[in-house]
Amino acid sequence: MGTWQEKIAPGEEELFERLARTLVEGRSGEGRTLHRYSQVGLEGRLVVPSGVAATHAHGLFAKPATYECYVRFSSGAGKSQSDRTTDVRGVAVKVVGVPGEKVIAPLAAAQTQDFLAILSSTFAIPDAETFVGIVQAAPGGPLKILRYLIGRVGFFGALRLVGALAKAQDKGKVSLAERTFFAPLPIRWGDHAAKMRFRPVDLPATPAVVAAGERGLTEALRARVRSSPLTFAVEAQLFVDEQRTPIEDGAVEWLESVSPFVEVARLEIAAQDPESARGQLLQSTCEAMSFDPWHALVEHRPLGSIMRARNAAYRVSTAARKATSELDVRPPSALTAG
Ligand code: HEM
Repeated sequence: MGTWQEKIAPGEEELFERLARTLVEGRSGEGRTLHRYSQVGLEGRLVVPSGVAATHAHGLFAKPATYECYVRFSSGAGKSQSDRTTDVRGVAVKVVGVPGEKVIAPLAAAQTQDFLAILSSTFAIPDAETFVGIVQAAPGGPLKILRYLIGRVGFFGALRLVGALAKAQDKGKVSLAERTFFAPLPIRWGDHAAKMRFRPVDLPATPAVVAAGERGLTEALRARVRSSPLTFAVEAQLFVDEQRTPIEDGAVEWLESVSPFVEVARLEIAAQDPESARGQLLQSTCEAMSFDPWHALVEHRPLGSIMRARNAAYRVSTAARKATSELDVRPPSALTAG
């Protein structure tokens, strides 16, 4: 494995703070700035088995253990909209009961490690400023986005980006229980760097039918977890070299032929009823909490410029909506109503 490196631009911290404020001040109504609508919030377990390949057994995955966790599925928009409106879809996993040094100094005593993933294996937007520009232009529709991008990256750059953005949009026709979710930007993996994905391993013989209605995705996912467990293989792909597995350029796919995904854990979501009193408690708990890639062990520090911009963005957004402090997060088994 080669040696990974980050490129830190002078003055980027001030820029990221300013971008975070712009993003969060532009949010409509209460709640998350992005990924506001959640199909469901669930409890699960992260099981790190014995025998993880020595090359990949680092950080949280260094030794066998079972952790409780929260799992929140979401759509990317900064407002609640129909599941049939094309959008990014996400899954956020908060692993609880994780000892060890954390990257955010004031949260050093936090016992959590979060992983956030979407349906795309790449992140085509070149920098945080362009990301915020796209979010701001989005309510004006595709033409407004195109016009913004032409001004920012030129005509051909804009066409390329619009194509990549369109590919990242999901039409809401396949159940989220049957999709692979990727964390398309790298994190530290001990002394190495890696990208992760969550791959469903218990696909049904016939895909779930997703109704065409406003809440088709929501209903399909809830029906699935009501009737049977949902298991994802948690897999990691290691950095090889700057050319083929770049740290700073999320648009470049880390090919599996260059660096294969290797299983490091299973995310096991036992069958549960989201409409039960406990299911509702889990959902309200997930809504109030903050999922953030920077809620991380030092061994899993997010890497690259866009990840550093996210450090400011999630902090400012969760402060604006007064999310539960990371220091107050309790494991699902310790949750009680009221
Ligand atoms: C690899 C790229 C990205 C992925 C995989 C990703 C994923 C996610 C997910 C899954 C959520 C929902 C978290 C939850 O359920 O609570 C979320 C929320 C959010 N994302 Fe991202 N995101 C990415 C890039 C960005 C960037 C570049 C920014 C801004 C610079 C950003 C800003 C936010 C904000 C402000 C929230 C809401 C935070 C809150 O109030 O809890 N994201 N993201």
